[in-house]
Amino acid sequence: MCGIVGYVGHRNSADVLVNALTRLEYRGYDSAGIAVFENDKISVAKSKGKLKDLVDKMDREGKPQGISGIGHTRWATHGEPSDINSHPHSGAKVTLVHNGIIENYKELKEFLEKQGRSFLSDTDTEVVAQLLDYYYSHIKEPVKAIIETTQELKGSFALGIVFEDFPNKVFAVRRESPLIIGIGKDENFIASDVPAIIQYTKDYYLLEHDEIAVLEQKRVRIFDIHYQPVKKELKTADWDVDAVGKGGYPHYMIKEINEQPTAIKNTVLPRIKDGVPCLDECNINPEVLKNIKNIYIVACGSAMHSGMVGKYVIEEIARTAVTVDIASEFRYRNPIVGKGDLIIIVSQSGETADSLAAMRLAKQKGAKTLAIVNAMGSTIAREADMLIYTHAGPEISVASTKAYMVQLSVMYLFAFELAFAKGQIDEEKYRYLTSKLLETPEMVEKVIEHTTEISQKISTKLLTADSLLYIGRGLDYALSMEGSLKLKEISYIHSESYAAGELKHGTISLITKGMPVIAVATQSSIYEKTVSNIKEVKARGAKVIMICREGNDVPKDIADYVLKIPNFEEILLPMLVCVPLQLIAYYTAVQRGNDVDQPRNLAKSVTVE
Ligand code: G6P
Repeated sequence: MCGIVGYVGHRNSADVLVNALTRLEYRGYDSAGIAVFENDKISVAKSKGKLKDLVDKMDREGKPQGISGIGHTRWATHGEPSDINSHPHSGAKVTLVHNGIIENYKELKEFLEKQGRSFLSDTDTEVVAQLLDYYYSHIKEPVKAIIETTQELKGSFALGIVFEDFPNKVFAVRRESPLIIGIGKDENFIASDVPAIIQYTKDYYLLEHDEIAVLEQKRVRIFDIHYQPVKKELKTADWDVDAVGKGGYPHYMIKEINEQPTAIKNTVLPRIKDGVPCLDECNINPEVLKNIKNIYIVACGSAMHSGMVGKYVIEEIARTAVTVDIASEFRYRNPIVGKGDLIIIVSQSGETADSLAAMRLAKQKGAKTLAIVNAMGSTIAREADMLIYTHAGPEISVASTKAYMVQLSVMYLFAFELAFAKGQIDEEKYRYLTSKLLETPEMVEKVIEHTTEISQKISTKLLTADSLLYIGRGLDYALSMEGSLKLKEISYIHSESYAAGELKHGTISLITKGMPVIAVATQSSIYEKTVSNIKEVKARGAKVIMICREGNDVPKDIADYVLKIPNFEEILLPMLVCVPLQLIAYYTAVQRGNDVDQPRNLAKSVTVE
């Protein structure tokens, strides 16, 4: 999704803005632009394509020189990616960048056209620029004009704004879409996310809904919607610039796969007290847990898939019913939830529009909400009744790996505590399961080491496939969903995940000679059943890649490749098995020459519906 940055300071602002935008590339975008105060005039440079295209254009046509400005990476919503539709957009005196969607832009555009204003682009953003310019032309005071404008807007927005009459000041305002204000020494920043500014400062304010920030080189003022000054708490990011670099790896994705053992440790260890999970600091205690009737896990993408694993685990050991819902479905189907139900919202970014809306709906209906979120201070984190932060650190690659992994680890922490609180497991089992969870970082490390080569080899067999299937039962099926998503996202090869037992009800007709089928069979109670399903696809010509456990008796001739995972506590195996699934997707995408970290059409943080 779109990324916003802004700068006022002592450096060359075009360079700072481009650097900061580079750190937001992970969000996904298809054009970029900046506006810089050059000799007290606003100078705009923008281009379709990647930041490199913008930089090349500035090298050819001249880079605006100045110490303040705003910048933007655009993920097209209204109007195709083009130079014209790229941000910044301007009115006579106002230039701005926008992240979000203005729902009533058509009505506003009609109103402005009646006032004699005309538009160059197809965007909703240009309407905001013209509307602000309209109010500013009457009110002549920037903050008041911003307040007046935002009151007219319906939808979501984070705006970075410059006014030609106020050189070297940057204004910002937000509703729904995230925005932070970075505080440096003699320089200040705005950004959609902390990674954008971490190379300059770790200190920042979180801008709240409808707050307006006014940035100058040596001071930042924040006002509420009534133009009253607001005092903010200064936050400090607890990771540094290395966390947002590639650290010698060719891609963020493979770096993040390798960071998984550390991410699990950072997430799990602080939540263990006297050998068992303790989620008190998250506002969760045994009393709350005992009274939960039904659980709904609501999320999008990989986060939803972590919920699928969570469902199997919670139902198995805590004997509590769990429904997993896609957030965009949940929010529009008038779900039957209410008092006594727990809605778990899982989100890496904490800003996903559908997940946030689903959480608000659940709250409205009287259910308790628990957020499992990676991004500190994000909207979902702030609005949930209970909160468990995952500590994956910044995840830059669009395809989620370490964030998904730590979401799994939290599912286990939660399930164990719930199972004990509900009297479904005794203390001995509780301690035993927790001790096993504590072994997972080491096990994951081993699996990365042992499965990299074979995953690489398997990926060479997938390169030319038009389509493939992932099959499994139970927890293996839940994992297959994530394996299949990973492959689709970055290799662009079509794949489906299917419950192995359901294949023969239709999907098996797709199997033709040589079609790859990745069969996950790690759960002992259903191993033989999955093996039978593997035989069925093998008999129809499939090329079978089987993932099972060391020591499994693999019948002769049912698999073309067998990838074995070390034996480990069965219920925890998803944390191990997801590793080769990630690696297979990664190496397939690399060999197909794809942009692994920023796959086409995708965005990391989906802040619009
Ligand atoms: C996007 C990303 C996925 C992610 C999903 C949910 O689609 O590309 O990788 O799983 O959003 O994001 P969240 O931030 O809520 O976990």
